[in-house]
Amino acid sequence: MIADVVVGLQFGDEGKGKVTHQLARNGNYTHVVRFNGGCNAGHTIYHEGKKFVTHHIPAGVFYGIKSIIGPGCVVSPKKLFKEIKELESGGIEVRQHLKIAANAHVITDFHVAEDSRDEDIGTTKTGNGPAYRDKYARKGVMAVEIPEFDDMIIDMYAELHDNPEFDKVEILCEGAQGFGLDIDWGEYPFVTSSHCTTAGVISNGIPHTAIRDVWGVAKVYETYVGAKEFETDDDEIFDKIREVGSEFGATTGRPRQISWMSIDMIKRSVKVNGANKIVFNKADILEEVEAWCIYDGMDAHDFKNSEDMEQWILKELDEPEIVIFSRSPEEI
Ligand code: IMP
Ligand code: MG
Repeated sequence: MIADVVVGLQFGDEGKGKVTHQLARNGNYTHVVRFNGGCNAGHTIYHEGKKFVTHHIPAGVFYGIKSIIGPGCVVSPKKLFKEIKELESGGIEVRQHLKIAANAHVITDFHVAEDSRDEDIGTTKTGNGPAYRDKYARKGVMAVEIPEFDDMIIDMYAELHDNPEFDKVEILCEGAQGFGLDIDWGEYPFVTSSHCTTAGVISNGIPHTAIRDVWGVAKVYETYVGAKEFETDDDEIFDKIREVGSEFGATTGRPRQISWMSIDMIKRSVKVNGANKIVFNKADILEEVEAWCIYDGMDAHDFKNSEDMEQWILKELDEPEIVIFSRSPEEI
């Protein structure tokens, strides 16, 4: 078995959807697996010139690859069927390829109603936190219990470890959210309720020995949506980046708070995730606003241009195999 992993190095919205979509196109994957989170995620994907936003559905469906919502995920039946409809009306075949692990958990209407009253964390109000809480309290509902899911349910062990359909199982693992929102590594309590790092992959039935590449995805600046104060006020450049970079939530439409990239956060999350390949997205946006800055501890480093900044980043990182600075919303 081989598994490649895509994880977020910052606060979500780094462009994991784009990276996953491109890897799915170029690789030989038999499966694409979402390993954490629910419909709190919003992955923006450009496919054959059309824009799609996925929440639950792994990007494998765009290329007819078997796509699994893994046991580490929580899934809302209503939102899932709505999303299937949307993708299918955009010309993507979903039903033949989409599977749900029997032991994934369900987001109920009750969870959504509860989450909609949140004011402290600034959640996406999609019921994510209450669904995970009930899972761990051992009173949750599993996907296998939902009659509407019948024809999509699979046993994850049989699928990955005992599957005569494939000579060799090759999995692309699509992460949601990111290091700064991780339940263990984010700034608690301003976090999501799942494991957003490579650690989250393994509990889905994908052994650590299978992992080949870990793609860490970041942006050349930071964004965050939620209740904590993140953006330093009165900095006009952040308004500009928000406009030019279209930094509004793909799930909730909320304006994302903006900051300069923290190199410390990148280093920490690269290490904790074991990322050997790194993509920095949206380098084109800083070029458009003509500002380049990075936080290094208490210091802010200004740069003259992209090249200067990129050279500096490369020197700071501990020799990853690949570092890509991307300037396109569609490809890396
Ligand atoms: P929850 O995951 O809806 O409980 O939200 C917890 C925190 O994570 C909030 O700050 C959300 O805005 C943030 N969050 C959850 N999912 C995403 C995502 O996919 N992108 C960016 N932020 C997210
Ligand atoms: Mg997103």
